[in-house]
Amino acid sequence: MRLTLKALCASVIQSTLLYVTPAAHASEVEVLHWWTSAGEAKAASVLRAGIEQRGHQWRDFAVGGQAGISAMNTLRIRAISGNPPLAAQIKGPEITEWARLGFLRNLNDIAEAEHWEDKIPAPLRDVMQYQGDYVAAPINIHRVNWLWINLRAFEDAGAAIPHDFESFFTAADKLQQAGYIPLALGGEPWQVATLFDTLALSVMGPEHYQQAFLDFDREALLSDGVTKSFSLLAQMRPYTDSDNLGRNWSDTTRLLIDNQAGMQVMGDWAKGEFLAADQQEGKSFTCVAVPGTEQAFSYNIDSFVFFKPNNAEERQSQTDMAEYLLTPQFQRDFNRYKGSLPIRFDIPLPNGDTCAEKSRQAFLYAEQHNTLSPSMSHGLSTTRYVQSAIFDVINEFFYNPKQTPEEATQALYRAILSAQA
Ligand code: BGC
Repeated sequence: MRLTLKALCASVIQSTLLYVTPAAHASEVEVLHWWTSAGEAKAASVLRAGIEQRGHQWRDFAVGGQAGISAMNTLRIRAISGNPPLAAQIKGPEITEWARLGFLRNLNDIAEAEHWEDKIPAPLRDVMQYQGDYVAAPINIHRVNWLWINLRAFEDAGAAIPHDFESFFTAADKLQQAGYIPLALGGEPWQVATLFDTLALSVMGPEHYQQAFLDFDREALLSDGVTKSFSLLAQMRPYTDSDNLGRNWSDTTRLLIDNQAGMQVMGDWAKGEFLAADQQEGKSFTCVAVPGTEQAFSYNIDSFVFFKPNNAEERQSQTDMAEYLLTPQFQRDFNRYKGSLPIRFDIPLPNGDTCAEKSRQAFLYAEQHNTLSPSMSHGLSTTRYVQSAIFDVINEFFYNPKQTPEEATQALYRAILSAQA
C-alpha cells in the first residue's frame, strides 16, 4: 500500500480514535520504508521479490518524503495505536529509542546463525545493538558527503571539476554565466541541513565535527568552525535557484539529469537516480567528495527493525526477511540500484561503478584513520528530536539573509540545549 496524503490523514484520524486495524494475514510482511523515487523503488523491488520468493506476501507501507521524517511520524502513530508493521526502516540512535521502549524483537539468534559479526564492519555493529543485543539488521552504507557533477553542463560552461572551495565557486560562476543553476538544492529543511552538514565536516574536520554534532560539546558548538560553516552556506545561497521551496531531492537530481543544473550535494542515493534515468557515470555525471572532505566519510546506514511478532508465523516471516537482507544476492542487487555500498565487504561492486569504488576506498581509509563520521543530517549521530531542532536553525538561517553566521551559531547551540533538556 502506497500512502498518499489522503491515506496518511486517514491513518492519523484512525489512530487518534485508537482504532486498531485487524491483524495482518500471518504470512504477510508489512514493511515500512520511504523509498519512493525511481532508483529507490527499483531497490525496494529487490526486497519485495526476495520476500515473495520465500512464500510471503509483501505489503508495501511506503511513506515517501523528507528523507524518512514523514515515515517516522506515521510509524509512531501506528505503534502507539498497537498496530506497528512487522518490519520498519529505522536508523541510528533512533533504533535504541524504540528498543528501550520495548517494541523491538531481539535478533541475536539470527545474527549468530548468520554470522553477522563476520559480515558487518566492526564500527557499525554498535548501531544495530541495544545493551549488547542485536535489534536491527543493516543493509548498506551510504556516503553523504558527495558532490554530484553534471558533466555536460561543465563541458558546455568550460568549468573544471572543483577540488576546493575556490574552484567550486569559480565553477559555479561559469555555470551561472552559461545559464545553468550552479547548485541544485531542494528547499526542504533536511536537504539544506545535508548541505550544511557536509560543509561543517569540511570546515571542522571529522574530529571537531563529531565533538559538535555527536557529543554536542559546548565549546565545539560555539566554535569558529560552526560560524564558518554557516558563512560558507550563505555564500552558496546565490548559486541555488530561488524556485526550490518544497522541492524533493529526486526532482532536484532531475535538474542535473535534464541538463538544467550543474551540481548537487547529496548522499549516493542520488547515483541510484542517475542510473534509473540511464545516465552513464563518467559520461553524463560523476561524483567527487565535497571539497575538503576527501579523506572523511560521512556515513548513513539503512537498517530494518522488526516489531515484536504476534504469532509464530509472523516471527518466521521476519526471520526470513532478516536472513535475506545479508545474503549476497540481496546485498548485490539492492545496493546496485540504491547507489550505496553493500554492508558486506566481501560482495563485489558492479563493474565500472567508479563512484562505488571510490566510496569503498574512502570508507576503508576513513576506518583506518578514524575519520568515519555518523551523519547528523541523516539521523546517525542523534535522534530525530534533536535533529529537527538543528534543521530548524539551519533552515531559518538559509532563508533569512539578515541573520548573521554568528547569530546562527548561538541559535544552534540554544536549540540543541533545549532539545536535549
Ligand atoms: C535514507 C536513504 C534514502 C534517502 C532519501 C536517507 O535518509 O537513508 O535510504 O534514499 O534518505 O530518501
